[in-house]
Amino acid sequence: MTQPICYLNGKYVSFDQACLPLNDLGIVRGYGIFDFLRTYNGVPFKLTEHIQRLQNSAKLIGLSLPWSSAEIEEITQNTLTHNHLAEANIRIVVTGGASADFITPLGQPSLMVIVTPVSEYPQEYYEQGIKVITVPIERFIPKAKSLNYISAIGALQQAKQTNAVEALYVNSQGDVLEGTTTNFFVFRGSQLLTPKEGILNGITRDVILELAKDRFEIVEQSIAYSQLNHCDEAFITSSTKEIMPVVQIDELHISQGKPGENTQTLMDLFQNYAKS
Ligand SMILES: Cc1ncc(COP(=O)(O)O)c(C=O)c1O
Repeated sequence: MTQPICYLNGKYVSFDQACLPLNDLGIVRGYGIFDFLRTYNGVPFKLTEHIQRLQNSAKLIGLSLPWSSAEIEEITQNTLTHNHLAEANIRIVVTGGASADFITPLGQPSLMVIVTPVSEYPQEYYEQGIKVITVPIERFIPKAKSLNYISAIGALQQAKQTNAVEALYVNSQGDVLEGTTTNFFVFRGSQLLTPKEGILNGITRDVILELAKDRFEIVEQSIAYSQLNHCDEAFITSSTKEIMPVVQIDELHISQGKPGENTQTLMDLFQNYAKS
C-alpha cells in the first residue's frame, strides 16, 4: 500500500518512515498543540485562520513557534502537493520537542503535517439528524487545541454505547459548552444561540455566524442544559462534520425528531459557500 507523505521537521517523508525522538514532550508529557482542516476543490479551507488558531493555541500553552505563518502555510501546501489527493484532511501538529530531562522544553519544537483522504459521514446523519449525549466535563485551557483529548476519547466511547454520534461537555454551572470535536448551536424561533466562553473557537463556527448574521438574530451566550427543552432546533459544527443536525440530546427529542428548517437553511448556505 502506498504510504502518505508527511512533513516532519524539515523533511517530506513516507508516513511509516517518520520518527520522533521518544523524549519528545508531546509523547512523554502530552505537551503540544495541533490544528485540523480540510480541502474543498483541492484548496485548504480557511488555512490562514487555522494557522492563526494554531499560533494562538501555542501561545496559550507557552510554546513559542520558530515558524512564521507563511512558512507553515508553504509547508502545508507542499505536503498536500506530495499526496495527490482529490480532497484531503490536513493535520498540523506541533509538539514540545526533545527534552533531556523529559520535562524541560529546549526551545526546538517538532512540526509535522499529516495529510489523509477525506472520509465522509453517513448521509443519514445529515438527512435524519443525530443523537448526542452530555457528559460533565470541562476542557483544560479550552481556547487551545492542545494534544490532550483524553476526555474526548472517553466521552466518545460512552456516546457510541448508546448510538450517539457526539458527546457534549456540560460545565459545573450546568451550561452546555461544546462537543468533543464540535461546537454547539441551538435555534429558539429565529434566534440562533451558541456559547462563547469555555469553548474552542471553531473555524466552522465563525463561518456559520457570518453566514447566519443577515438572516437570524445571533446570541452568543451560555446555553443552560435545563433550557434545552425550550429549543426548537440544535446542531453541531466542525471542519469534518460541517453542520450536523441534532435531533436528540440524552433523552430529550428536539424538533420532532427531524432536522429543523433553519438548520437546513444554514446547511445549504454552508455547502454553497465552502464549495464555491
Ligand atoms: C473541542 C473542539 N471544539 C470545536 C471544534 C470545531 O472546530 P472547527 O470548526 O475549527 O473544526 C473542534 C475541532 O476539532 C474541537 O476539537
